[in-house]
Amino acid sequence: MPLFKKTKPDETPVEKLRPDEHFKHIAFIMDGNGRWAKKRGMPREYGHKVGAATFKKIAIYCSDIGFQAVTVYAFSTENWKRPKHEVDALMMILDQYLDELKRDHEQYKSHFRFIGDLSFLTPELKAKIDEVETLNMHHPQVLNVAINYGGRAELAHAVNTLMAEGKTSVTEDDISGALYTAEAGDPDMIVRTGGDLRISNFLLWQAAYAELYFTDKLWPDLSTDDIDEIVRDFYSRKRRYGGL
Ligand code: IPE
Ligand code: IPE
Ligand code: MG
Repeated sequence: MPLFKKTKPDETPVEKLRPDEHFKHIAFIMDGNGRWAKKRGMPREYGHKVGAATFKKIAIYCSDIGFQAVTVYAFSTENWKRPKHEVDALMMILDQYLDELKRDHEQYKSHFRFIGDLSFLTPELKAKIDEVETLNMHHPQVLNVAINYGGRAELAHAVNTLMAEGKTSVTEDDISGALYTAEAGDPDMIVRTGGDLRISNFLLWQAAYAELYFTDKLWPDLSTDDIDEIVRDFYSRKRRYGGL
């Protein structure tokens, strides 16, 4: 277990666990933005705006402390069911975030991948994504942002890709390699904020042996101290993969 010693301003030494080769990939279901805003008497869209700022802070921290891959669930294939004004606001926040990434990409020690069915995007948004995906390629770490993503749709897409390659029977490795996450691999831990105890169609195949971490905290409230606690919690678990 990797230990990292840090001295707080009050000189109290704190030992923090840091991710190592046993904890390469962390994934987040960023839930609770709407409730966070409602609690403050604000429209849900405001929660998404603050949630985007939390995403930036958490993504940068995770790459700083050494995660090889971070995958976040930003918009699901089911989120289209929401009122048009909320969907429009989310797309606008995505557009602004892409501009911010173009400007501030050097703050992230990772390159960027947008995973999901991107064919729904306007050509302008798609062009911005293509551009952002060329940035930071000197960093081997990856930040996957899932938009219009659903685990079932991803599996159907993977099977269709394999069939188009002429395969008539497939192995588990074939499927893993045809998923959007082929580069990052399976997450070691999936974190869900917002208090609900479900996966909501996220990384269904990849979650086979992921550790699950649920917190009642709403996404905009997630802090870097919470990430330290999540890392500590991960190293307290015993992964058996069906063995003893
Ligand atoms: C998660 O927050 C962000 C998206 C699904 C886009 P929600 O919008 O689901 O917030 P709650 O769960 O309603 O509070
Ligand atoms: C999951 O949150 C999707 C994202 C965080 C992008 P939802 O709020 O859509 O999930 P449900 O509807 O509560 O299952
Ligand atoms: Mg929600």
